[in-house]
Amino acid sequence: MRSESTALGDSNSGILSSAKVSPEIEVRDLEMSYGSYVVMRDINFTVAKGQVLVIMGGSGCGKSTLLKYMIGLKEVTHGDVLYKGESFVKASQEEREEVQRTFGVLYQAGALWSSRTLAENIGLPLEEYTKLSAKEIRELASLKLSLVGLKGFEDFYPSEISGGMRKRAGLARAMALDPEILFFDEPSAGLDPISSRRLDELILQLRDSLGRHFSGRGDETHAGSRRSKGIG
Ligand SMILES: Nc1ncnc2c1ncn2[C@@H]1O[C@H](COP(=O)(O)OP(=O)(O)OP(=O)(O)O)[C@@H](O)[C@H]1O
Ligand SMILES: [Mg+2]
Repeated sequence: MRSESTALGDSNSGILSSAKVSPEIEVRDLEMSYGSYVVMRDINFTVAKGQVLVIMGGSGCGKSTLLKYMIGLKEVTHGDVLYKGESFVKASQEEREEVQRTFGVLYQAGALWSSRTLAENIGLPLEEYTKLSAKEIRELASLKLSLVGLKGFEDFYPSEISGGMRKRAGLARAMALDPEILFFDEPSAGLDPISSRRLDELILQLRDSLGRHFSGRGDETHAGSRRSKGIG
């Protein structure tokens, strides 16, 4: 797996080396394994606020597995993952859930509920983690859908829209709770080159307008964080 820390066209490149800023995300000496099968060891990288990190590598090299470790779906047994300088690995369950609430995740397969409309899909995390009324949730869902170019598609089911639109709806859902850090696992996988490029452009536009980062595309994984503009 090749990891690249790149600012993708903004001025944040090299910020960690030039300024005394603690990284937003730090992965230290991480070892990834399934039972006795070690996928990769000695993984080290940092992501600064406002930075987009793209992780590229061939199929099966461990990109999705890395995402699972970073968001707490897999328990770290060797190494550490830190957010804003605090160990996510050593955190209590409560502290960990608090950090997890700042994440937005777009999974490789999109993972929309097929029996729910787009507005309902985006409303699910809002129902679970906020005390907003049904009307407010619907309004917010519409707003998130319009951000990804899906205004007017609130009442469509995932099966009634195209693959690229499903990816965009997944992105809208990942942004439902205004996450500080966005994780994308191959958001453009399975899309034609034009849709794929449009999605990449949309991700960068959202980063610039909303100030978010860590994302991923093709065989990559990226991430980003909110309030990035304050840093860059
Ligand atoms: N649940 C699992 N149990 C055992 N091994 C697994 C499991 N999930 C993945 N692996 C193995 O771990 C390795 C990394 O898989 P992973 O899904 O992270 O790859 P990837 O880089 O995301 O690939 P792709 O680009 O195809 O999505 C592969 O060899 C895979 O077979
Ligand atoms: Mg994968």
